[in-house]
Amino acid sequence: MRKRMIAGNWKMNNTRPEAVVLTQEIANRVPAAWLDQVDVVIIPPFIDLLPALTVLDFDKNEIAVGAQNCYWEDHGAFTGEVSVPMLKDLGVTYCIVGHSERRGLFGETDEDVNKKVKALIAGGITPIMCCGESLGIRDAGEYIEFVTAQVDAGLAGLDDIDMKNVVVAYEPIWAIGTGRTATPEQAEEVCAAIRAKLADMFGAETAEATRILYGGSMKPENVDGLLAMEDIDGGLIGGASLKSNDFKALIEAATK
Ligand code: PGA
Repeated sequence: MRKRMIAGNWKMNNTRPEAVVLTQEIANRVPAAWLDQVDVVIIPPFIDLLPALTVLDFDKNEIAVGAQNCYWEDHGAFTGEVSVPMLKDLGVTYCIVGHSERRGLFGETDEDVNKKVKALIAGGITPIMCCGESLGIRDAGEYIEFVTAQVDAGLAGLDDIDMKNVVVAYEPIWAIGTGRTATPEQAEEVCAAIRAKLADMFGAETAEATRILYGGSMKPENVDGLLAMEDIDGGLIGGASLKSNDFKALIEAATK
């Protein structure tokens, strides 16, 4: 049985005081017992990581904190970058890699994604590796090939032991921040194809154990249908993770 996961990607939102308030609201609204059913992760911008972790530590709260990006070298002349050991030292336990905004706006390649995934695993942080097609690729009917190729490239060189600490997130670009969610059937088709790809790469047992999240306009109104799908193990949430009530509702849905 795969434990569900609800991860909130705050993107470039919230100053430190705002981050403290939102983290505290989420901590107050999510009963500890729910965390037996579902792993909850909040993923603020770098400068908000320490404030968020401090709030959660103070409350002895089991909600985890993730980063939105990292660099694959441990230290050195890489202006503006943040390394895996730096994140590990803070207490960060997850890191998004290859989000479509990083790929599309900041030129992140499959090769970069693969280096980051490997650095995170080596450093003891769980990558949440994102994949997903544009509307053009979907309309051309090439989305399964495209997404499975991203998975192949992003996870190249890993073995089944490494995969115990990898989460995959399928996020169709046309559904991100657009309000246009994939239907449960559309999302399931690709998540099942990702799982089949993982079985080819790492064997059936590893594929069965790996969590695959859906992301793209997931909200309280559509979460139940998406989570009912066999190969969807949770959500990577953007917009709705910035409102503690909505985020709470998504976590509650994942406990059922
Ligand atoms: P959204 O973002 O929920 O606002 O569509 C999802 C994501 O980009 O992770």
